[in-house]
Amino acid sequence: MSKSSDIDLTDLQNSPSPECREWHFLPETDSTNAEIIRHLPSHPSGEGLVVIADCQTGGKGRSGRIWHSAPGTGIYLSMLIQPKLSPEQLPIVTLMAGLATAIAVNEFIPSPAQLKWPNDLLLNNKKIAGVLCEYHATKVPAVIIGIGINVNHTQFPTDIKDIATSIKLESGLEINRTTLIKQLVTQLDFQYSELKSNKVQSLIDNWTLHSDLFGKSISISKGGQSITGKAVRLDNLGRLVILNESGKEIVLDSGEVRIQRI
Ligand code: BTN
Repeated sequence: MSKSSDIDLTDLQNSPSPECREWHFLPETDSTNAEIIRHLPSHPSGEGLVVIADCQTGGKGRSGRIWHSAPGTGIYLSMLIQPKLSPEQLPIVTLMAGLATAIAVNEFIPSPAQLKWPNDLLLNNKKIAGVLCEYHATKVPAVIIGIGINVNHTQFPTDIKDIATSIKLESGLEINRTTLIKQLVTQLDFQYSELKSNKVQSLIDNWTLHSDLFGKSISISKGGQSITGKAVRLDNLGRLVILNESGKEIVLDSGEVRIQRI
């Protein structure tokens, strides 16, 4: 099947893209990330592969959470890349994918969505998109970039309705998912080419411009502990630098950020 509702595989295949681009569309799968992981042994060098599903039955979120993946409404997309980065530089890929998502989504809405470190995109303080990157140390090391965007949802399950939102709920706009997917993949290709040209600082600067986190008081939970302070900047490895209550800078490579609203 090449088409389901507004996702048009033929249109995607005809859009300008690098020579190595291969598009797969599935009406339903457990997880588009898992789909690429299963594909890896037979396609060890498949950089550029993009898998999209209309619906996921086991969409994976960060920290083992489930990503709500109702049919006909969201974008559930994974892309395979094989970057030449050291393990300590890999978190930059999550920032790069978040930046691409923010730029793509912001093309469609009047007031811009904001990035929240490390992998969330928020609109009116609720989550509109998320990124889950998975690293595989296969013969050619691979990173699977998984992106979920809440596009045309009009409701969410009770357990997430206070923290999740969609483009449609916030703006009233019904977005054609093929058009947004094209924009997203164009941005991913561009930001990835910047990364391959070692433009890490400009990527971090651009990420910072698309976030309203800096200067704000935050608490961050990590390994059962909570640290509070002011978000100051990202360092050149994409780690979050915060100024704690004793005036000391702390560098964090992961954690769950909560912005303290006044
Ligand atoms: C998060 O914010 O927790 C990350 C969510 C990532 C969801 C996407 S949907 C496409 C891809 N396939 C998955 O199973 N997860 C990612």
